[in-house]
Amino acid sequence: MGIVERLYSKELQSVVGTKNKRCNSCVLHQRLVQKKAVVRHNSWCRKRNNSSCVFYLVWMAQHMESNGIDKYSKEGDGSSLNTSRGDSSELIQRETNLKYGKPKKIVVCGGDGFCGWPTSLFLSEIGHQVLIVDNLSRRNIDNELEAGSLTPICPISERIDAWKQVSGNEMKFERLDIANEYDRLLQLLWREKPDAIVHFAEQRAAPYSMKGSAQKRYTVNNNVNATHNLLCAIVESNLDIHLVHLGTMGVYGYGTSGGEIPEGYIDVVLPGGQVSNILHPSYPGSVYHTTKCLDALLFQFYQKNDAIRITDLHQGIVWGTNTEQTRRDERLINRFDYDGDYGTVLNRFLMQAALGAPLTVYGTGGQTRAFIHIQDTAKCIALAVGNPPNPGDKVAIFNQVAECHRVRDLAKLVSDMTQVDIVYVSNPRQESAENELQVANRKFRSLGYEPILLSEGLLDEVVNVAQRYAYRCDPKKILPASYWNRKRKEDCERYAKEKLDRDTYARLLGKVSLFHEQQNSHPYSSNGRIDSLDEENMLYVLSRGNPETIKLLKKTLEECTTAANGNVD
Ligand SMILES: NC(=O)c1ccc[n+]([C@@H]2O[C@H](COP(=O)([O-])OP(=O)(O)OC[C@H]3O[C@@H](n4cnc5c(N)ncnc54)[C@H](O)[C@@H]3O)[C@@H](O)[C@H]2O)c1
Repeated sequence: MGIVERLYSKELQSVVGTKNKRCNSCVLHQRLVQKKAVVRHNSWCRKRNNSSCVFYLVWMAQHMESNGIDKYSKEGDGSSLNTSRGDSSELIQRETNLKYGKPKKIVVCGGDGFCGWPTSLFLSEIGHQVLIVDNLSRRNIDNELEAGSLTPICPISERIDAWKQVSGNEMKFERLDIANEYDRLLQLLWREKPDAIVHFAEQRAAPYSMKGSAQKRYTVNNNVNATHNLLCAIVESNLDIHLVHLGTMGVYGYGTSGGEIPEGYIDVVLPGGQVSNILHPSYPGSVYHTTKCLDALLFQFYQKNDAIRITDLHQGIVWGTNTEQTRRDERLINRFDYDGDYGTVLNRFLMQAALGAPLTVYGTGGQTRAFIHIQDTAKCIALAVGNPPNPGDKVAIFNQVAECHRVRDLAKLVSDMTQVDIVYVSNPRQESAENELQVANRKFRSLGYEPILLSEGLLDEVVNVAQRYAYRCDPKKILPASYWNRKRKEDCERYAKEKLDRDTYARLLGKVSLFHEQQNSHPYSSNGRIDSLDEENMLYVLSRGNPETIKLLKKTLEECTTAANGNVD
């Protein structure tokens, strides 16, 4: 059997964990970059282990063969295929174990959310047993704000069914409010006996936490109780459960370390000259950030008192929507928030760019922030789960970031890419107009983390997500809707009256209906458009000019196109 035929064999598909030969995002990616498409495509997909990409699979097959991993060709008859498949699966599982540790039972609290959903899928993909716990409060906040996800997300039970169909892996779900249902949480731990809990289950939007008294109080009650209940339940359960928490870079404040922000702890000289390594001082910028600082104190106490194993990940702003896993089926799509409360800065810019509307930069745009791609969030959490601190070790703190950018530079990046204007609007936040930011991320780097950078994936986000679903956007929701204090509110309202007037809104609205019309004939809206690739170039590079391989690859492409047209998995 040749490489490409084997690519289509059930055996190889099960080894790489997918039956899906379509490659939507890569196709879009290729269409956009045109020249050098193949080279970019390959490195793009390989970096992400994109097993829904046919070309990645070809590469994988070649790689397996050249490393002597695959024994298909030496064996020959049907019966030996099973044996060799077993060998390959084992090898791949061993490689995965080496990187991410042995399969574990993991409870993912907040697993229906923006970070939690793709992370649950990734953990399941690499062999962990996943139980999602979520009270679906984020979906209720959508109703409260009348601003839903731009992408059409499915109900949780459909998501879980779709994942089972696509991957064969089963995930469980329990609807439970971890901030308010302590007894059920404890029962769940006794029943499931998880090795680890990943804790995403908090109200995570800084603007929402500053909206009014109700939201401030909800954020504190929910977040602090959720974290404290988990810690309490771990102690009471008497189980050795590793807690992995999603914190934020915002706990450090911005630019207060006087240099590179270390990973959680900082050396200080105490009065009297003694040197000590202490938790980095907190300097929160909102009620939401304050709850994360309170979480950090709770972790410090419970580690000291009960020797719980805890990893606190200080994450940057997450960008990107989909991961290799969520791309496999439309029902797995991740949420994309673009509204003034939940939409993070980059998502708002992407949405505005997709509408052809000016990018609204708060203040001078001199705020520097840290960023990480959603696929990397999932990988970093898997690395953290696989590398728990030893019992008795102090709380392990990692900075989960890839790169830092000034907001105005980000706006310029998006504007250059999409030719939309930039406008500077009054800042609703009480924050420094300008700050420097340098962040250490050596711990993840030392565990083999290679980040996806904005320069690689932004265009894909504009086209594949923001433009594709622009018809679902309510542009009135993009501008700020929460203000840090009275003065900021007055300034913003004055500014809106004088500068960002109804004309701008009208332009935005006009563009949206235009997009709505275009949607039916949108070139990127159908799945798996393989027909428009620069085939000759691609085939030549993939085959390294070998005419026999070109022939085989052509056959693959034909099958792939048929599969895509017929929407066949
Ligand atoms: N999104 C980012 O850019 C970002 C950046 C840094 C840190 N984080 C952190 O990552 C975590 C997840 O963020 P996200 O963007 O996925 O947020 P999200 O709001 O999309 O997801 C949070 C999930 O937790 C659930 N939840 C909230 N309170 C709960 C409770 N009491 N019981 C059970 N479930 C509950 C919600 O229903 C939701 O599904 C948060 O703690 C956030 O602070 C996110």
